[in-house]
Amino acid sequence: MRRLRPAPTNSKSCVDGIHLMVQEWQEQQPNIDVVLHIQDGVALFSEQCAKQYRVISEQVSVTLYRFVQESLTNIAKHAQANHVDISLNLVDSKTDNDAQYLCLEIKDDGNGFDGQTISSGMGMIGMRERICAVGGEFFVSNNTPKGLIVCAKIPIHIACAE
Ligand SMILES: Nc1ncnc2c1ncn2[C@@H]1O[C@H](COP(=O)(O)OP(=O)(O)O)[C@@H](O)[C@H]1O
Ligand SMILES: [Mg+2]
Repeated sequence: MRRLRPAPTNSKSCVDGIHLMVQEWQEQQPNIDVVLHIQDGVALFSEQCAKQYRVISEQVSVTLYRFVQESLTNIAKHAQANHVDISLNLVDSKTDNDAQYLCLEIKDDGNGFDGQTISSGMGMIGMRERICAVGGEFFVSNNTPKGLIVCAKIPIHIACAE
């Protein structure tokens, strides 16, 4: 039932919602350590900062939440991991001064992909589609020495404040 809960619809409640989701997941998975790192300022998107404000749409907010939700479900179901690191950071674009990206990365130290199971389910396909729908990029790779890394890079627009 928890998986059906509505996703939070703004950046502040999205970050709060991710915290809560991770906390509940940790309670259900006491043998897996999960560490959540959310960069300072990521929760403040809708607030004015200097003469600029960053805009995170409702769709991006929901996308971030669902991405963490599906990744944690997959880790519980498939990974046999001991440790999970989740990070959400704001990164400057190397080519465009007015652009920044949200980078959401989820790393586990479990089984990783064995090379044959990659496209078996709909969860990963859905994650990729949601990220593409907000103009972002989705990456999956094996972690070293073991486990999986799923990563989403989503562009954020910066607008001038009035
Ligand atoms: N964190 C993970 N560690 C190992 N294997 C994974 C992980 N996440 C997904 N997988 C593999 O990728 C497959 C596809 O995942 P997904 O599309 O979410 O489908 P489903 O979870 O319904 O099987 C899974 O069936 C599983 O074999
Ligand atoms: Mg899945």
